[in-house]
Amino acid sequence: MTAQIIDGKQLAQKLRGDWKQRADRLNALGIAPGLAVVIVGDDPASQVYVRNKIKACREIGIRSDEHALAGDTTLDTLLALIDRLNADATVHGILVQLPLPAHLAQAAVIERIAPEKDVDGLHVRNLGNLLAGHAHFVPCTPAGIMEMLKSTGLDLRGKEAVVVGRSNIVGKPAALLLLQAGATVTLCHSQTKDLAQHTRRADVLVAAIGKPRAISGEMIKAGAAVIDVGINRTPEGKLVGDVDYGAALQRAGWITPVPGGVGPMTIAMLLCNAIVSAERHAAEQGISLNA
Ligand code: GUN
Repeated sequence: MTAQIIDGKQLAQKLRGDWKQRADRLNALGIAPGLAVVIVGDDPASQVYVRNKIKACREIGIRSDEHALAGDTTLDTLLALIDRLNADATVHGILVQLPLPAHLAQAAVIERIAPEKDVDGLHVRNLGNLLAGHAHFVPCTPAGIMEMLKSTGLDLRGKEAVVVGRSNIVGKPAALLLLQAGATVTLCHSQTKDLAQHTRRADVLVAAIGKPRAISGEMIKAGAAVIDVGINRTPEGKLVGDVDYGAALQRAGWITPVPGGVGPMTIAMLLCNAIVSAERHAAEQGISLNA
């Protein structure tokens, strides 16, 4: 069997076309969708991600303001910036690129973002709404994973879904979304005993581990849909996922490539959340989007 490749780049491009139309409509009505992107320090990977997010915003007509702060910025300074962005009516979304330098308490920073501007969906209120089944903003990577699974045409109801990785940003919300879609979900993590025993049962396997090629071919059920969230750089400088891609191609039903899989979808879903936030703002102003 040769797996079908879920081309995240192509799918993201298609979705972005729809969202550009929505951004155009907002701009025409005098509501310029605005996203503030905050980056602290000079982590090279974060700088690349932020650059890509800003470029994607520009391409579809979202105004993005980058706030690049020095690595030794204090918590008070960062919180004061977030307070200003919360109060700025031209800013519809606030994204603080993670991870933050170790001296900044990540939870305190995320909790300071107004939940209605938290386009990353990481504020406890947004995570709580997701848990309760009425999400306001869904975190971008898990939302992108669900779009990729939707593109396969698979009916998730009753399927065995195994998520490897329990972060607030990917693993936990992905497990909740799969559960809401009717899958039977197992959430594995670094303390899971005999990981392969779980992954081999998975009709849908989401790997968000952060270890190059941690999922080997034998760990994949024949015909499974495999979503590889990992982006790891090998000592030779090559980008690889958490899944052994070559082996997965031989065994899986569907596989996402790295790069060009989940990464572009994360950015696409960020754009979606930013547009949705601006549309909600327009509605609050009594501006009709259907005129
Ligand atoms: N770092 C890696 N992925 C993400 C993301 O989706 N959002 C933010 N804010 N930081 C990240």
